[in-house]
Amino acid sequence: MRDYNRPDLNHLNQGTQPLDRLDVFGNWDAVPLGWYALCDSKEIKKNKIKTYKIMGQQVVVWRDESGATHALDAFCPHMGLNLTQGKVEGRQVRCKFHGWRFNEKGSCTHIPCAESPKKSAKTQSYATQEQYGLIWIYPDEVAPKPVFIPHDIRGKELDWWHMKPLKRKCHPHAPMINGIDAQHVKAVHDINIVPEGSIRMRDEETLEIYLGSKIPEGTTTLGKLARWILGPYYAYINSFVDGNIALLNTVKDVKLFGKWKAPECNIVYSIRYFERGESSILPICVTEKRRGFLARLRTKFVLLLTKIGFEVLKNDEGDEFFEDLRFRHDNLLEEFDKPIKTLIDFLNSKPLSKWSTTQRKVIINKEKQSKSSFNQPMDC
Ligand code: FES
Ligand SMILES: [Fe+2]
Repeated sequence: MRDYNRPDLNHLNQGTQPLDRLDVFGNWDAVPLGWYALCDSKEIKKNKIKTYKIMGQQVVVWRDESGATHALDAFCPHMGLNLTQGKVEGRQVRCKFHGWRFNEKGSCTHIPCAESPKKSAKTQSYATQEQYGLIWIYPDEVAPKPVFIPHDIRGKELDWWHMKPLKRKCHPHAPMINGIDAQHVKAVHDINIVPEGSIRMRDEETLEIYLGSKIPEGTTTLGKLARWILGPYYAYINSFVDGNIALLNTVKDVKLFGKWKAPECNIVYSIRYFERGESSILPICVTEKRRGFLARLRTKFVLLLTKIGFEVLKNDEGDEFFEDLRFRHDNLLEEFDKPIKTLIDFLNSKPLSKWSTTQRKVIINKEKQSKSSFNQPMDC
């Protein structure tokens, strides 16, 4: 007799619907270390506490009297009330349920009915940082480095503009590959991009993929306009940091109207989800803060062009993004899919955080599949 509590493994498509999970790429259970954009800085006033879900984890964030932000796991280590119902006291937070108080490191510092705090009543704390008008959270108590700033504008005064989060019913790694997917860009957007010889590690943390495209002789009004403004050639760089930050550096080496060097536009993406099942990627346009009316106007013009570019690409795709994906690795093309393959390997090499609900996994490949017990006939 067949045991119907066990899946009928003989009929599963191991190539596209494996029982085993992928390593980091596209894996909801694997959350890489890195800074995640949590909320707008303005959302949390002094002495206020709020709760958020990020990468499937419920956290609380508060701002103390001095203006500094702190974050803890949301649930009180005593009997589990969400600390957002409590109140901020100096740098600390007091739980409403039984009045226990916790400092910004997550240690219990006061229990109203006891003479001394309970040492074991400690909860997880997280590093926070404010950058680009946002509060960022790091999935550990200490972050080894600050939030990423594009290399070319480090040390400069910055100007930024938050765009609307891209919400997709798929893992946030899927849209990450869109801009480096030469075949997709040709098939759907009818643009030839050239990925060869342009992949490198810029430094030990930054994977950089340089892509170029000839702007076609425009037949449409928009095409003619694009060629008039940008000239015959267009290049952009996609960079990836830490498995959860992407950077699009547009209008690389472009002369506007064939005359003026275009100010480069950096779009930093926080690659994240709140709840499993839907990604919410936040694009942030970041540029050097420029003095003078003309300089600021040029910057805004480039930001506007970038936004228009996004809208045009989105229109090509119709109403639905390519969300229903069962990503497989074994049929990527050597040449055209090289940027994608490189990015997947890069992501799979990233260390995982405490928010992960899996141990590291080895990607299933053909050899492993053939040895796998999944392929053995079931006893029935
Ligand atoms: S649940 Fe927080 S003090 Fe008891
Ligand atoms: Fe696309």
